[in-house]
Amino acid sequence: MAIERTFSIIKPDATARNLTGAVNAIIEKAGLRIVAQKRIRMSREQAETFYAVHKARPFFGELVDFMISAPVVVQVLEGEGAIAKYRDVMGATDPSKAADGTIRKQHAKSIGENSVHGSDAAETAAIEIAQFFSGNEIVG
Ligand code: CMP
Repeated sequence: MAIERTFSIIKPDATARNLTGAVNAIIEKAGLRIVAQKRIRMSREQAETFYAVHKARPFFGELVDFMISAPVVVQVLEGEGAIAKYRDVMGATDPSKAADGTIRKQHAKSIGENSVHGSDAAETAAIEIAQFFSGNEIVG
């Protein structure tokens, strides 16, 4: 399988509970390498751009408010089949449906406050990575 890069966000509910290290430990144990990482406070504009695909959804306003409510950690993860692998490691969007051992099963509070985001496809991974990182900030 090809080496891929995917984009990850450790969300405000996780940073607020000091879970960055716990989440990173699960990521690294799964064989994914954290090749870029920074802790930022997302602006409203950044969050609206990032989640533009969900603009028509009833939860869009709540989602944007949540993402700017506390710091987040944005990351680039690298590894074999990294996009699908990280989605497995995160678990289902709704933590009550997430499999045992996944990040969301262990740490997420609700479908909205679900601790992590991961890209869903190669095209979105490239767009999401480029929104937050320049090439020289990613060190594989
Ligand atoms: P994420 O993988 O970051 O992509 C879109 C996000 O929207 C998702 O995780 C959830 O945090 C959020 N989301 C999805 N469904 C709902 C919902 N019904 N209510 C609130 N937030 C939601």
